[in-house]
Amino acid sequence: MSKTNQNTNCAASSPRHSPKRPFVLGIETSCDETAAAIVSADRQILSHALISQIDEHIEFGGVVPEIAARSHITYLPWLVQKALDEASMDVGDLDAIAATTGPGLVGGLMVGMLTAKAMAQASDKPFIAVNHLEGHALTARLIDDTAFPFLLLLVSGGHCQLLEVSGVGLYNRLGTTIDDAVGEAFDKTAKLLGLDYPGGPAVEKAAALGNPRRFKLPRPLTSKAGCNFSFSGLKTAVRRIAEDCANKRGALYREDVADICAAFQVAVGDCLIDRTTHAIMQFRENHDEPLPALVVAGGVAANQYLRGRLSTLAREQNFKFVTPPVPLCTDNAAMIAWAGLERFAIDPKLNDKDIACRPRWPLDSHAKGLSGSGKKGAKA
Ligand code: KG4
Ligand code: ZN
Repeated sequence: MSKTNQNTNCAASSPRHSPKRPFVLGIETSCDETAAAIVSADRQILSHALISQIDEHIEFGGVVPEIAARSHITYLPWLVQKALDEASMDVGDLDAIAATTGPGLVGGLMVGMLTAKAMAQASDKPFIAVNHLEGHALTARLIDDTAFPFLLLLVSGGHCQLLEVSGVGLYNRLGTTIDDAVGEAFDKTAKLLGLDYPGGPAVEKAAALGNPRRFKLPRPLTSKAGCNFSFSGLKTAVRRIAEDCANKRGALYREDVADICAAFQVAVGDCLIDRTTHAIMQFRENHDEPLPALVVAGGVAANQYLRGRLSTLAREQNFKFVTPPVPLCTDNAAMIAWAGLERFAIDPKLNDKDIACRPRWPLDSHAKGLSGSGKKGAKA
């Protein structure tokens, strides 16, 4: 197999006791991870099978939609069977089958959705359509039983948003990016510094060896009111610094890359802290919970430096800090199974068999679009 088979058991918890129904199979194919997982109502991840396509996209420096869709077709049937085998189940033991139906790359979404619908139809089970972003948002309740309402910082390759989450399907967007998503900024920074895709882990690794004070980078929007983000100016500043540095020294050396990555990571941290502090103030105006949760979810939440800073902020502001373990920050199917299960628990008659894929699907359908926002990443 040419793919990275990322330890498929990484997120599965060994059952502590007999799992409680309903059991939901989740399928995730919205970008470059193919995954299938089964979860139970008492928050056990009974199985989790995942293949990352990183090896297939690395030479292109980003996700190629056509390659992604073909790869999902090749590996999804095998992963579904693996998830059933690991949970010692067959399709008849499931109560519902969920799949991501948006937002994401439409070719991949179609593969997951049609597989799930066919399985549901053939076994006379309900099909549940899951918003990928809701999967990230509700992971906090899978791992921690986090109570509503909570404040969510969603930081991924296609999104950077702050939302009040009052219940399943109940989202109030406090802020979003007006240009690039934060993961996208990591990926573009990595690309222009010659680091591998995906950029986030590569920048974090390089930053660990760098001096964050050598280069000065901007903190866009941090002096402004509100909770919106902007990262394109930061990316442009990185390009300028990298070019200057290479011109002066004849080339960009490894320590230069490390210092730029370190400065970039601290600047991103400052932006996230500033905007989240504003959101905390707004959240406090709307809710009087003594210790609400600040949930940080999405692929960028895997970054240890950013996790550390946001956890300190939460503690200072009397918020409980909740962030998934790293394998559940990046795309996975346990979050899709769980979001499906939450929706199914509220409405056991639910069946989304007539729903189509939505390449764009905002969590807060009432929020007004911002010019240029959320249009660039694969998940935008
Ligand atoms: O949630 P995710 O797996 O997919 C989307 O829904 O977009 O997030 C992927 C994003 C990529 O931009 C990747 O570079 C970023 O998350 N990412 C990180 C780290 N790990 C993944 N960013 C910063 N530090 C990391 N350690
Ligand atoms: Zn995601």
